[in-house]
Amino acid sequence: MATPTHTSDDASPTVTLIDNQSQKRIELAILPSNEGPDVIDVRNLYRDMNYFTYDPGFTSTASCDSAITFIDGEKGILLHRGYSIEELASRSDFLEVAYLLIQGELPSKKQRQKFDAEIQLHTMVDEQLISFYNGFRRDAHPMAIMVGVVGALSAFYHDSLDIKDLAQCHLASMRLISKMPTIAAMAYKYTMGQPFVYPDNELTYSENFLRMMFSVPAQEYVPNPVLSRALDRIFILHADHEQNASTSTVRLAGSSQANPFACIAAGIASLWGPAHGGANEAVLNMLNEIGHKDNIHEFIARAKDKNDPFRLMGFGHRVYKNHDPRAQVLRESAHEVLTELGSTEQPLFELAMELERIALEDDYFIEKKLFPNVDFYSGIILKAMGFPTSMFTVLFAVARTAGWVSQWNEMINEPVHKIGRPRQRYIGYGLREYVPTEKR
Ligand code: CMC
Repeated sequence: MATPTHTSDDASPTVTLIDNQSQKRIELAILPSNEGPDVIDVRNLYRDMNYFTYDPGFTSTASCDSAITFIDGEKGILLHRGYSIEELASRSDFLEVAYLLIQGELPSKKQRQKFDAEIQLHTMVDEQLISFYNGFRRDAHPMAIMVGVVGALSAFYHDSLDIKDLAQCHLASMRLISKMPTIAAMAYKYTMGQPFVYPDNELTYSENFLRMMFSVPAQEYVPNPVLSRALDRIFILHADHEQNASTSTVRLAGSSQANPFACIAAGIASLWGPAHGGANEAVLNMLNEIGHKDNIHEFIARAKDKNDPFRLMGFGHRVYKNHDPRAQVLRESAHEVLTELGSTEQPLFELAMELERIALEDDYFIEKKLFPNVDFYSGIILKAMGFPTSMFTVLFAVARTAGWVSQWNEMINEPVHKIGRPRQRYIGYGLREYVPTEKR
């Protein structure tokens, strides 16, 4: 039984936990949050009561203090350092958002110039990395290349590995944000059998990425402002998202004082899964599988069938339970991009809109509060822009690097470093005696 009370000596609230078996009781402090639920401090629970808390999937667990991103899943609010995602998506650009996430404030003009110059300084990668790419099969998934190459950066940039040196941490952070588009575009070019394209520091972050992806030496590349703006928006919307699986992975890896490149590679590995960053790729695959509006009802029925593992990709969210604020922004971008391109992807988009309409009117999806998430629209936009589905999660990784790096910096700058070490509810055998093979 947990009852909210206040301690008598000071006004700080506590809950009293009473073990109904032993009648032992413990006062647990309630620590205030600036926004969202306050947290019950259970750090002494094991020591004082010999209990662990049990929360698989961490649905009720705050794993850290953070001042970077706030999400109210019920109200559909997403704030970075206090600024709403809708405002950032319409008024800011990705590099400014990256600065905001890392530094905590929007940059002045001078700070912004300095930040841009730092990013530009690191856009190229060590030439030796090219031989690293050559070790992969041409049909390798680009995320496999990303995990390998980003992890390998620790073998190339020895002067930014010491996490106790603030200047080195900053250098590693700049290198990661700056090199990620180059590494991502190289992964694509490698799988296409096309020459790598060096970065062009005259272009914006998004224009440069599009150029490294889609230009070839035989033809001049002219950036399309509608497409680079849409891509920049996708980057902004994916830049950070509080303590999601990949960010928690980065923090957990970093808690052992692993170097920043290794930590971000761990985050990329976590992001790859279809329940996280792989969802927009899964959305496209699903739309192709559905194929025609006439088949939508069959797939909706499958998604609702408990005995069928099929889920409607791009629907539902662990945190947002009413709407995903990022999805609304991208819904608009999807219309803009498809209008600009007069795209051949229009039928796919129309299929997606029909699926969205039918699902949103279906009792199952209404009752379970399942609605389109950001990935539902980002996949359609990226496909129309010419990105192959295998690159979708890679783009997510490029954007999320800003968040990972910010969260990693926040963690390593905490006064007390504690390695992340969850416990478990053990449900296996107790002690038993070893039986020799001939007696089994
Ligand atoms: N299609 C059909 N049923 C669903 C879906 C779906 N997409 N999502 C959840 N449900 C059902 C689920 O079967 C469960 O039903 P019941 O209560 O009868 O067992 C109920 O809704 C709650 O699901 P859950 O798995 O307990 O919810 P969760 O919060 O653990 O899962 C999720 C969140 C995103 C993993 C899940 O909704 C899902 O698998 N969605 C499809 C994949 C997807 O779009 N992922 C991208 C997430 S957004 C990107 C990001 O921010 O990283």
